[in-house]
Amino acid sequence: LVLVIDFGGQYNQLIARRVRENNVYCEILPYDTTVEVIREKNPKGIIFTGGPSSVHDEGAPTIDKIVFELGIPILGICYGCQLIGHLFEGKVEKGEAREYGRTNIKFDKSSKLFKDIDEESLCWMSHTLHVSTIPQGYRISATTATCPVAAMENEEKGIYGVQFHPEVEHTVMGKEIIKNFLFEICGLKGDWNMGSFTDEQVKDIKALVGDKKVLCALSGGVDSSVAAVLVHKAVGKQLTCIFVDHGLLRKDEGDEVEKTFKGQFDMNLIRVDAKDRFLKKLEGVSDPERKRKIIGEEFIRVFEEEANKLGDIDYLVQGTIYPDVVESGTKTAATIKSHHNVGGLPEDMNLKLIEPLRTLFKDEVRKVGEELKIPRHIVWRQPFPGPGLAIRVLGDITEDKLHIVREADAILREEVAKAGLDREIWQYFACLPNIRSVGVMGDERTYSYTIALRAVTSSDGMTSDWAKVPYEVLGLISSRIVNEVPNVNRVVYDITSKPPATIEWE
Ligand code: XMP
Repeated sequence: LVLVIDFGGQYNQLIARRVRENNVYCEILPYDTTVEVIREKNPKGIIFTGGPSSVHDEGAPTIDKIVFELGIPILGICYGCQLIGHLFEGKVEKGEAREYGRTNIKFDKSSKLFKDIDEESLCWMSHTLHVSTIPQGYRISATTATCPVAAMENEEKGIYGVQFHPEVEHTVMGKEIIKNFLFEICGLKGDWNMGSFTDEQVKDIKALVGDKKVLCALSGGVDSSVAAVLVHKAVGKQLTCIFVDHGLLRKDEGDEVEKTFKGQFDMNLIRVDAKDRFLKKLEGVSDPERKRKIIGEEFIRVFEEEANKLGDIDYLVQGTIYPDVVESGTKTAATIKSHHNVGGLPEDMNLKLIEPLRTLFKDEVRKVGEELKIPRHIVWRQPFPGPGLAIRVLGDITEDKLHIVREADAILREEVAKAGLDREIWQYFACLPNIRSVGVMGDERTYSYTIALRAVTSSDGMTSDWAKVPYEVLGLISSRIVNEVPNVNRVVYDITSKPPATIEWE
């Protein structure tokens, strides 16, 4: 285990990713974590992240100096490096110029941290302050033209500091440097992988649950699917999954969920056909936020009714993943915590949560899914909003309109996959703007719906760009849609980025 101590830097998750890419497990903890907790976790290495503060600010984030006495190697990055300088009575000062971006750097290759890397290279800098005088017992191990202490170290104590950011791609030798820290300095082995993670989780869940009953709300999305299969592997039929089919899923999706989980995995799966209930509640509603609210509430109601029919349940599985945990600012809590009112469930159910994926990043969740032999189309499923097609039929929703958008979307997905673009494009779908326009088919005038196609590239959905889908592919999709989907005579392609648009139209 490596601990990443968070001082508020923007690349913290990236640091964790880099460590895990080397098959070393790591966790991010806030800087005010006590030394007792750190000691208890027994890490083989500690990394201090960067951060926006100045070590000279009053109340600036700091760390108990005892951490340096634990005999655990430490790597301080940017702010983390300055903090080491500051705590051990070096000098931290403003440089002549604020250094930002790619910079030439010269490494001292006799340092274990820089073993077997190019002596001169490019690194990524982003700082105003830097260590100007190193603490006693330290030596300088890298320099740039404007930063005399681009890296420093006290090899004997295993304390290393770098002013640049080894975790970002632009630091050419960055990956090697992190590798050196993990393997040369911390003596780690790199034997953590998704197979061992899966086995451990299965063992732990089995021990925790004993002969109790477990419930899971399955949506067919990546996270809830992987969580459910993992728990099922541990406790088998003691797990019941409830799949609320709100009738707003994509073509054949409900059947596929049933086939996979009931068929392939032989799970206790209750598929609730609640289409009519949802459509009735949504009748005449055109405001997107109201749609979302209605669907969310109705979902809980249906889930609750079904859960109540099952009687005594002790645990609830949730597909929470690491970015949710870190972003919500939750201090890394225990994997399993008591929860009284999950998503509006009645308090007297008093369910305890099982969140087996809460330490994993999305791509790691996918790897676990592959370990568990979950079909590819689920493991690599593109993001799909909870309210489903309800927010892809703009304005009021009818069964006819849902049919149109569902069919058009199926054609789009089929052709994107055929063109081999399905991994490259982050999200792609059809939506039905509430407009009709004039067209001509055969000798007849038509007055039919327009379908809008949306395809975007993104890494997290926060920002995105429109995907440059080849014209031929777009052309094929367009002609198939107008030919095969009744009541559509026009297809348009959305070429706006986010911002200013959003990915969904509603
Ligand atoms: P926007 O449209 O905000 O979407 O750019 C960003 C990402 O979030 C998805 N999305 C939702 N997911 N419930 C969800 O579970 C929602 O109400 C919702 N609205 C948008 C969207 O598909 C995209 O991946």
